[in-house]
Amino acid sequence: MTQDELKKAAAIAALDYVEDGMIVGVGTGSTVNHFIDGLAGIKERIAGAVSSSEASARRLEAHGIPILDLNDITDLPVYVDGADEIDAGFCMIKGGGGALTREKIVAAVARRFICICDTSKKVACLGRFPLPVEIIPMARAYVERELAGIGGRPELRDGFVTDNGNLILDVHGLMITSPRALETELNQIVGVVTNGLFARRGADVLLLATPAGVERQV
Ligand code: 5RP
Repeated sequence: MTQDELKKAAAIAALDYVEDGMIVGVGTGSTVNHFIDGLAGIKERIAGAVSSSEASARRLEAHGIPILDLNDITDLPVYVDGADEIDAGFCMIKGGGGALTREKIVAAVARRFICICDTSKKVACLGRFPLPVEIIPMARAYVERELAGIGGRPELRDGFVTDNGNLILDVHGLMITSPRALETELNQIVGVVTNGLFARRGADVLLLATPAGVERQV
């Protein structure tokens, strides 16, 4: 199977978590795109979707799936999203697509986070994938110095502006042995909007697509 076929298998497996009348939180990325396409097949059964990015919103809209404003919702039963890396404790690095801030907000509201991945994303230790950090543009040089101070090598994501009008620094060279602590520490740097560690609110369920089938891990 190709990596894209594995991504699709994980995404389709996540449809089992969508119940009649539900509002569904929708992540961002190529794996989630398969989920959105699958959701289109059962769109009459759901109340609508909350999107974590403009890109996912456009795809949902193209399928005629109603988009709801997170501020109008008090209960979000499920959020489905991919990851760039996920460890054994279901802590993740996310934000390869640059949507980390809205993803983290929707994930915070959701009762259950279903992570959909192919096997290449499962790691023993987070950090080989550069950690995305969304920053306020005027703080770029300061945040770069702070990140270098904790041993990272920040690189500005060239020509990229987030849905919130901010920049992304991709931080190389971090061996993340304490993801919750590092997530908290990075949040204290002035000018950081969000970092791509999803450890304080990790995934609840991992649907891991392998060539032998989709493993459901809880
Ligand atoms: C986007 C994300 C994605 O979930 C992550 O980058 C995985 O993407 P893909 O499904 O394309 O491999 O965090 O901000």
